[in-house]
Amino acid sequence: MDIDEIAAYCKRRGLVYPTSEIYGNYSGFYDYGPVGVEVYNNIKQLWWKTFVQSREDVVGIDGSIITHPKVWVASGHVESFHDPLTECRNCKLKWRADHVVEDSLHKPTDGLTKEQLSELIIKNKIKCPKCKGDLGEVKNFNQMFITNVGPMEGETAFLRPETAQSIFADYKSVMDSTRLKPPFGIAQIGKSFRNEISPRNFLFRLREFEQAEIEYFVKSNEKNKCVYFEDFKNLKVNVLSEEKQKQKVNDSEEMTVNMCLKRKVFNTEWHAYWTAIFYKWYLNIGINPKNLRIRQHVSEELSHYSAGTVDIEYNYPMGWKELQGIADRTTYDLKQHQEHSKQNLEYFDEETKKKELLYVAAEPSVGMDRLFLTLIFDCLVQEKERMVLKINPKLAAYKCAIFPLVNKEGLDTKARELFKALSKDFTCFYDDSGSIGRRYRRQDEIGTPYCITIDFDTIKDDTVTIRDRDSMKQDRVKISNLKNTIMNKLT
Ligand code: GLY
Repeated sequence: MDIDEIAAYCKRRGLVYPTSEIYGNYSGFYDYGPVGVEVYNNIKQLWWKTFVQSREDVVGIDGSIITHPKVWVASGHVESFHDPLTECRNCKLKWRADHVVEDSLHKPTDGLTKEQLSELIIKNKIKCPKCKGDLGEVKNFNQMFITNVGPMEGETAFLRPETAQSIFADYKSVMDSTRLKPPFGIAQIGKSFRNEISPRNFLFRLREFEQAEIEYFVKSNEKNKCVYFEDFKNLKVNVLSEEKQKQKVNDSEEMTVNMCLKRKVFNTEWHAYWTAIFYKWYLNIGINPKNLRIRQHVSEELSHYSAGTVDIEYNYPMGWKELQGIADRTTYDLKQHQEHSKQNLEYFDEETKKKELLYVAAEPSVGMDRLFLTLIFDCLVQEKERMVLKINPKLAAYKCAIFPLVNKEGLDTKARELFKALSKDFTCFYDDSGSIGRRYRRQDEIGTPYCITIDFDTIKDDTVTIRDRDSMKQDRVKISNLKNTIMNKLT
């Protein structure tokens, strides 16, 4: 299914709508509908449970979207956070130059400078995708959203373009209040904003989106002392190294995490570990391994703060693209904030009595909306007679749907009682309209793993049928066993 079909499906089934659509198209902003918000919250909760609550070395924060504007000067975003822009000389539409070049030449443009993009546009006579007019010189366009704080014109401030900086700005307070010692991580899930030149591909590139990020701090001399490395070093992953990309090879190869580290795809053991644990998590939540690979950034495309980045990429209908980045951010950010805030941000080691700026060995960063979209791509299957969202039951909007066969002779009363009882433990959906076949299809399309039907036998023997989404098989189960049956299936 292509991206437009996925967007149409999401709208039809109440997963995602274009925002405020009654007023027309407003590019780069979307709303989650009743089904989508449940799936979305489940993804966020599972992420938080896995990477924060189940770990003794990671804590969370929830920072404010507007921070002191100096944060963005210190971080380098005011200076360097831009995308290449080209304007059509004829129709005046503005385009992201790298995307226009990529679409025209069908070649990746990662790491190209604005001068190189300008050259490619001229050399290949690339024209405006809309009116075929000439495209102008490529310029930098800063992606930060600007706002005013305070009355009248107020002070210029920014909507954060990444959640990472609130972590760095709060890092000292977190250390002081929790007494965490390195290695440790600080995590955050929250909204970020980027004034994309031409948002596209539905939820893939948004102007308002949600990030889930961890900044993982280690002592500088312990970057290769990852206590969990043993557990992951033999994990096999698909990899596209910088070396291969420079040889113009675009096929990934299967390697162990340890081999990748030896070949310097990862900067350090911690960098390798944080990439591997997320790669494995994506497999665990059901993403098809064929659609995942790790791509090392070529040096020219590294962000201003990174000493090495790998992306976990997904094979979308529009090609292999970043699902999650894992950057080695060094001491760059803490150094910058220490300098600009004039506060000492060093960690004091009680044992050695030495002070040092901790090293961010890994910053796993994923757009939650993009992860949601990825799961929909990966799980939505068109079978002969039905469309079915084969999403991990833990992430499904509703764990079960409850259907009275007919709305009479006490079946509806019994079904409502059951809905009330099961809703205490699971998200349930009640549906009493249309044929049972239709009701099954509707639930298949939104990924409900179990459908429970109350029929005439229920009144006689207190049993119901439970139908499995994937196999479509039905079992008869005692109502008293239903909660345990569903619980077992879900785990
Ligand atoms: N914090 C990394 C990013 O926003 O891409």
